[in-house]
Amino acid sequence: MSAFGFGRVVRAAFIVSAIATVAVAGPAEVAQIKPRQDKLRDMGGALKAIADEIKKGRIDWDNAAIPNAQTVKDRSGYLLGWFPKGSGPESHVKTYALPAVWAKPDEFTKLGKQLQADAAKLNQVVQAKDEAGLKAQVQVIGKTCKACHDTYRSPDYEKDNEE
Ligand code: HEC
Repeated sequence: MSAFGFGRVVRAAFIVSAIATVAVAGPAEVAQIKPRQDKLRDMGGALKAIADEIKKGRIDWDNAAIPNAQTVKDRSGYLLGWFPKGSGPESHVKTYALPAVWAKPDEFTKLGKQLQADAAKLNQVVQAKDEAGLKAQVQVIGKTCKACHDTYRSPDYEKDNEE
């Protein structure tokens, strides 16, 4: 084999091993990123739809508030399972999740559990068609979303999604 050919083989081997290194970063973990963002967006859309009903001043409980509160509850029940180690910025897949998710997991878990409790309460008030209760609970749950985003979601999210 010529020196030139050998160099090519070495280079090719290097590239193959570089690809293999990226792959061991965890394809299963990395594959979580896109679907978790889609589900978080669904949850955001559902909460916004409820806020819009309140703004309209005439809440459509059966077709809007109840199903959207259910979506918030369903999504929040899974949220803590969407952030396996390896699905942060080190994956090189675009994510707004900050390294703090894994560096400060106790507070993250606490906020995730708070969200579940808030979402359960949100469901109770829509089932009861309690307008004052709904207004209050939308504020409460919004604060929990924000508390987590302030620490665990990159501010780039706001920059990238400015209207
Ligand atoms: C326990 C922490 C936590 C809570 C609570 C939380 N989020 Fe998030 N959220 C995150 C993180 C982390 C990301 C970034 C995910 C990513 O980019 O991979 C995110 C991203 C999002 C996104 C952007 C998705 C995208 O990429 O388009 C939306 C929308 C969102 N959250 C809505 C909500 C709403 C609405 C609530 C409350 C009902 C909420 N979140 C509660 C942690 C949280």
